Amino acid sequence: MGHYLPDYILTNQELEKLVETNDEWILTRTGIRERRILKDPDKASAFMAAEAAREILEQRNLDPAEIDVIIVATVTPDYMFPATACIAQTMIGANNAFAFDLSAACSGFLFALVTGTNMIESGRYKKVLVIGSDKMSAITDYTDRTTCILFGDGAAGVLLEPSEDENVIIDNIMHSEGDMSNTLIQFGGGSRNPASHETVDKKMHYIYQEGRPVFKRATEGMADVSVEIMKKNNLSGDDVDWLVPHQANLRIIDATARRMNLDPAKVMINIDKYGNTTAATIPLCLYDWKDRLNKGDKLVLAAFGGGYTWGATYLKWAI
Ligand code: UT7
Repeated sequence: MGHYLPDYILTNQELEKLVETNDEWILTRTGIRERRILKDPDKASAFMAAEAAREILEQRNLDPAEIDVIIVATVTPDYMFPATACIAQTMIGANNAFAFDLSAACSGFLFALVTGTNMIESGRYKKVLVIGSDKMSAITDYTDRTTCILFGDGAAGVLLEPSEDENVIIDNIMHSEGDMSNTLIQFGGGSRNPASHETVDKKMHYIYQEGRPVFKRATEGMADVSVEIMKKNNLSGDDVDWLVPHQANLRIIDATARRMNLDPAKVMINIDKYGNTTAATIPLCLYDWKDRLNKGDKLVLAAFGGGYTWGATYLKWAI
C-alpha cells in the first residue's frame, strides 16, 4: 500500500473563521476535526496518485516498467481529459502500463478494486495499481457551510497481484442508481453545462449536495450491502475482523457497524483526521491500519457515494 497526504491541516477552528459554523456542530454531526488540503496550485490529483504509487514501488522494490495497469478512481481529475492515470503513469515512469480513470465518486475505490481484481483473475495482467485520489478542495465552495466542512484532499492505493493462496479478494456486491443523481453532483464543466461565465457565476463548478436525502440513502445503502455480503458468505459479526467503511459521516459508519453486529473496536475510523477524501477514504484507512492487519484477517470494505453508487467487498488479507 501507498499513500499521500498534503501537509496543510484545515481545522474546524479555521473553518469557524470562514463560515457560520462551530467545532461542536461539525464534530457531533460528522465526526470530523480536521482535513488535509493540497495548497500548491501546481499539484493536483495526478501528483497525489503518483506519490502513492511511488511508495508502493519503493516498498516492493519494483521497477515501474513491471506495472501492467493503473486505475485511478477520482472525481477531481487534473483535466476532463486526458486521464489523471496517464499523467500519474508518466510521473512514475510506468511505461508498459495502460492507464485509465474510473468515476464512481465515493465508491470509486471499490469499483476500481473490482475492475482490477477481474483483470488479475483473467490471467492477462500480473500487477495492477488501484489508486483513489481526490483533491476535493478544488471543487469545494468555502462559503457553503453545508459542504466545506466535509471534504479533504488525499490519495492512497494498493498493488493487486495474482495469488494461489486462500487469502484473496473473495466477493463483491456493487450497485448504482441514477435517479437521485442531482442530489450529489458537480453541475458545471461537463458536456451538459460546459464552462461559461454563467456556470461560474452560478457556482456550478462546486460540489452540490442535498445532505439529508444523501444521508438517508447512504445509511441504508452501506448497512444493507454490508449485511448482504456477510450473509452471502456466512459471516457473523464475530467472524469479521475489520470493517473498512467509506468515511463520509461518523453516524453513517456507526449505523453500518451496528447493523453488522460488530464490536466498535473492529471499525477503521480516521474521518476525524482527514474528513471525506472521496475515493481515497478506504485505502487511507487500510494504510493507517496496515501494521495491525494480519494475514488471513477477514475484512469487509463498504462505500456509498454520488451516482448513487455503493457496494461492499469481502477479502482475506494476503500479507
Ligand atoms: O460521501 C458521499 C456521500 N455523502 C454523505 O454521505 C454525506 C451525507 N450527509 C451528511 O453527512 C449530513 O447530511 C451532513 C453532515 C451534510 C449534514 O448533517 P445533518 O444532520 O443532515 O444536518 P442538516 O442538513 O439536516 O442541517 C441541520 C441544521 C440546519 O439548520 P436548520 O435548517 O435546522 O435551522 C442547517 O442549516 O444545521 C445547519 N447546518 C449547520 N450548522 C452549523 C448545516 N451545516 C452547518 C454547519 N454548521 N456547517
